[in-house]
Amino acid sequence: MSASTAPNLIAAVSEVRQWDRLMELAKLGAITGADGEPGVNRPCLSPLDREARRLLIGWGEKLGLVASVDEIGNLFLRHEGTEPDAAPVLTGSHMDSQPNGGRFDGIWGVIAGLEAVQAIREAGVATRRPIEVVAWTNEEGGRFAPGCMGSMAWAHFKPSNTWDAVTDSDGVTFREALDEQRKAEADIAKRPLGGKPFAYLEAHIEQGPQLEAEGKDIGVVTGIQGSRWFIVEIRGETAHAGTAPVSLRKDAVQDMIRAVTALNALMTDPTDVLRFTVGRIEVLPNTSNTVADIVRFTIDFRHPDKELLITNGDAIEPTIRSAVKSCEVTVTERFHALPVEFDALVTDAVEDAAAAQGLSSLRLPSGAFHDAQFMVPICPTGMLFVPSRNGVSHNPAEYTSSTQLAAGARVLAQALAELANR
Ligand code: GLV
Ligand code: MN
Ligand code: MN
Repeated sequence: MSASTAPNLIAAVSEVRQWDRLMELAKLGAITGADGEPGVNRPCLSPLDREARRLLIGWGEKLGLVASVDEIGNLFLRHEGTEPDAAPVLTGSHMDSQPNGGRFDGIWGVIAGLEAVQAIREAGVATRRPIEVVAWTNEEGGRFAPGCMGSMAWAHFKPSNTWDAVTDSDGVTFREALDEQRKAEADIAKRPLGGKPFAYLEAHIEQGPQLEAEGKDIGVVTGIQGSRWFIVEIRGETAHAGTAPVSLRKDAVQDMIRAVTALNALMTDPTDVLRFTVGRIEVLPNTSNTVADIVRFTIDFRHPDKELLITNGDAIEPTIRSAVKSCEVTVTERFHALPVEFDALVTDAVEDAAAAQGLSSLRLPSGAFHDAQFMVPICPTGMLFVPSRNGVSHNPAEYTSSTQLAAGARVLAQALAELANR
């Protein structure tokens, strides 16, 4: 982009408009966190999700962007390029939230994409390539696990019917929820799954403490660590808590404790790089005076080193089997994303835009996974981060100021304009 068009573009990004849109979206599924913080619970493929999508489409269409959806519900808003057949630049993130989530995770990347495209149009910056703003289906995996279903299907990492039978906590299948959404969005133009963009650039809040701690405005994301998700089911036998001798029990809770203790030993890392989380435990029949016969728990295991991710991840099932005493065990892996590194084409565009705007930046990897992880094999990919207050995320206390978000949108706008004119 020429030095003369950049100031117009940067000036066209509206801090107030972007913030107002985010706050309007935050009303859809508004919750109050334990400390009184305003959070969001907007599950994917829910009526609230659809309301949010309609708002987005309305804002986009008002600008002249064209909306379309694919078979797994990924939603696109297209800004036409002066060469409509040129491979587009893709930007965006997700609109679903965690069940006890914040107002910025995911949704800001979509709204920043819209803000950037609006600024490009209003500043009269011509882009040779089209720019598409995407809202991927089910990034969080909060209602239907795992996350990143929309981007995985789009990138043909998995067929789009892979998760048809996955149920939410009410027993609704992913397929039923998706069919309902497709019916409700029958008026929106359809597009084929997949594509070959020129580049993908996703904006996101950092969700960690580094940018704030180092006083930096923009994170230039270098890559994403690998993640593996498992679900473990331990099956024993119910018994009376007062009468059944402990030596004769098949107590699923006690075997779960043995399994998790052994896993903690396996996952001990003096360097504190490895991430191991048991975040959800379901106990049946879940009553105080009955020995539990079923326990299901989740494992979220992450590491930036591929070999370690494979070795320790593959050791999970044998570790559990040798730890349990009296129950049957099933271990199912339901998500496996290897670590990725981003492309210099995109990371340099972000870094250069930040520098051109006098903003400080820091190169850093992402501990959270993102839809960008699945774009890496498809096209040059990168991400930009803005700081998260106290590094908090997946929590209603998640916060980034409107000023910080506006700085992120300005960098995004300049980097997108630059990429779209390559
Ligand atoms: C995404 O939300 C993640 O869990 O990293
Ligand atoms: Mn996210
Ligand atoms: Mn998230």
